[in-house]
Amino acid sequence: MDKVQSLKLKGMELFSPLLLAPMAGLTHSALRRLILELGGVGLLSTEMLAAKRLPMENPQLSPYLVRAPQERPLSYQLLVSRVEEVAPAIGKLHALQADAIDLNLGCPAPTVRRMGAGSRLMEEPATVRALVAEARRQTDLPLTAKIRLGETLDEEKLRNFCLMLEGEGIELLSVHARLRGEPFVRKPRWPWVGKVKGWLNIPVIANGGIFSLEDARTCLAQSGADGLMIGRAAAIRPWIFAELAHGIYGFGTEVPKVNKPALYLRFVELLEESFLPERRLGRLKEFSHYFAKNYPFGHSLASAVQSSDSVAQAKERALVFFARNEPLDEDHCSASCSKI
Ligand SMILES: Cc1cc2nc3c(=O)[nH]c(=O)nc-3n(C[C@H](O)[C@H](O)[C@H](O)COP(=O)(O)O)c2cc1C
Repeated sequence: MDKVQSLKLKGMELFSPLLLAPMAGLTHSALRRLILELGGVGLLSTEMLAAKRLPMENPQLSPYLVRAPQERPLSYQLLVSRVEEVAPAIGKLHALQADAIDLNLGCPAPTVRRMGAGSRLMEEPATVRALVAEARRQTDLPLTAKIRLGETLDEEKLRNFCLMLEGEGIELLSVHARLRGEPFVRKPRWPWVGKVKGWLNIPVIANGGIFSLEDARTCLAQSGADGLMIGRAAAIRPWIFAELAHGIYGFGTEVPKVNKPALYLRFVELLEESFLPERRLGRLKEFSHYFAKNYPFGHSLASAVQSSDSVAQAKERALVFFARNEPLDEDHCSASCSKI
């Protein structure tokens, strides 16, 4: 077992250096609560929240903002491209009692880029400097950022960009180890996270392609990162935080074998507790797409849920699937996960 290592974020000591990645449609209250129940996570996250709309959102009803009191520490990720949007958005996050604020500088989605946000910002360092400086003026909360490696492998450009972020007051940087245009099937470039770590004094977190204990060990060996950020695997294997917290950092106890159908049903229950009825089915479909990777014929689970007209129907179909199908063993699951 590797050494026990804790991660501090502006005086806030995280339970483990394991962060939930922000994921649109996935990292909502229900998934966060499921992950918390399984243990091991150090910092939870919302999905990206458009700074422009955030001040108008109703925290009791908005599926992006609904949260249970136990969901802490919770980082809120902002999608922002204009300096004047920063203060109202951060004001709202203070009212919501955010524990940390993350800036999305890596999203490659064309709609986001057209807004001048996400990964588009890595090509506009002067704008980013102004956005971070304004965010820093507006909050004393931990301020973090999430990037990809850029448009092309350009060490000097990336280094200058990262140093600028640190200089303007970013306190932790998560690096999705792929270029802007690289698809998920491409092997992540974990050694590049190591380069970023070598340039900065703030914690650097590696993200991308971690689905198992073995992936996590390889990523840490190649990057020397201060922690790991887990995205899709959080929806496929929500117990991965507990597994890594124990297996890598020596926290908590060994994770008992997880009953996957029971976990799925618990997720449905949490969706029902968290969201208005019309907000549940879409989120169940999104989660099922990932969770189905635990099964050899998972695509039939995903499509049975996908074509359901209600949560009740989806749940009934899932139960029929679970009664007829055994999950993959963990090694096979990791191999199939890396192909999504
Ligand atoms: C469905 C989905 C939604 C995502 N939404 C966001 C987002 O809102 N903000 C963000 O910074 N990254 C987003 N990402 C990227 C993830 O945070 C993460 O960087 C990426 O999935 C690589 O990590 P992984 O291999 O552990 O999944 C999203 C990824 C997926 C698959």
